Amino acid sequence: MSPFQLTRTLPADATGAALRADVLHGLTRSPKELPPKWFYDARGSELFEEITRLPEYYPTRAEREILVSRSHQIAAATGARTLVELGSGSSEKTRHLIDALLPALDSYVPVDVSQSALEGAGEALLEERPGLRVHALVADFTHGLVLPPTVGPRLVAFLGGTVGNLLPEERREFLRGVRAMLVPGDSLLLGTDLVKDEATLVAAYDDAAGVTAEFNKNVLAVVGRELGADADPEDFEHVALWDREHEWIEMRLRARHALVVKIPELDLVVPFEAGEEMRTEVSAKFRQEGVRTELAEAGFTLSHWWTDEEGRFALSLATVD
Ligand code: SAH
Ligand code: TRP
Repeated sequence: MSPFQLTRTLPADATGAALRADVLHGLTRSPKELPPKWFYDARGSELFEEITRLPEYYPTRAEREILVSRSHQIAAATGARTLVELGSGSSEKTRHLIDALLPALDSYVPVDVSQSALEGAGEALLEERPGLRVHALVADFTHGLVLPPTVGPRLVAFLGGTVGNLLPEERREFLRGVRAMLVPGDSLLLGTDLVKDEATLVAAYDDAAGVTAEFNKNVLAVVGRELGADADPEDFEHVALWDREHEWIEMRLRARHALVVKIPELDLVVPFEAGEEMRTEVSAKFRQEGVRTELAEAGFTLSHWWTDEEGRFALSLATVD
């Protein structure tokens, strides 16, 4: 059997149907919003990889630092034979964990909505580790995720602070869903960005080179290509602000002037007022107590909490109750 297998768990038009539903719902409500998973077509995945290399975007470097220093401890604590990674993207940092888990590791199961990212990651991993078994899943981790049969103990990794891109209620539901896939003896490794000074946070989402702005506007390109929308990225401005009350960064697109976006596939005409803002993403920042509580509410017990030297980012290891 080939060491690389890819399964699409989404029915052929599920992506199109979900995009139509999200765009119709998001652009006819007030304030307007679009869910973040639509950033990640092939171009969006590339742009995100560029973000991870920006001087202002510290989370990737901080999380890699923790993985480099703690992977052997994680391997010893979990004894994992299956590593499932949700929102795995390029799997770039994950190789440290994979290498620590080998040779006991039976298979690596990366899960992502971006098929191009999964294919690129699988190829890069297998080039250096021909013995590794990779079973990639093109799937939405927020909706009815079903894992293929795997050997335990399982470790589910959710890195990059992506959990912060879910709203609190979505997060609760998501964590309960992960818990439901697992049995006692399995574990969860969760990466969370931490609350810190506003200037550092805002700069990470509004870089000088404008890569994050381009990434944010990529959602317009996706809606244009898939649904025929005629939104011009030039008509929108990238906005990143710190919401002190919710302790999250909020990304928005602001209409530079009054305009109308036509979406033929939905038979929809969407007016924007000058200066009107549409939310495209939140990125919540955490504190240890909050993470512990949210995990406990979902049926996990926090067993380890590690941060980088500078205390910017945390990795939590949790066991299943
Ligand atoms: N884990 C990587 C990538 C983080 S970016 C890192 O830490 O660098 C978030 C990733 O999650 C992207 O690859 C994106 O395609 C994926 N993603 C976002 N929403 C998703 C969803 N609902 N279901 C599955 N994957 C999703
Ligand atoms: N999980 C990443 C984060 O919240 C995703 C991300 C980074 C992102 N930069 C972004 C999403 C800019 C939208 C726009 O840090």
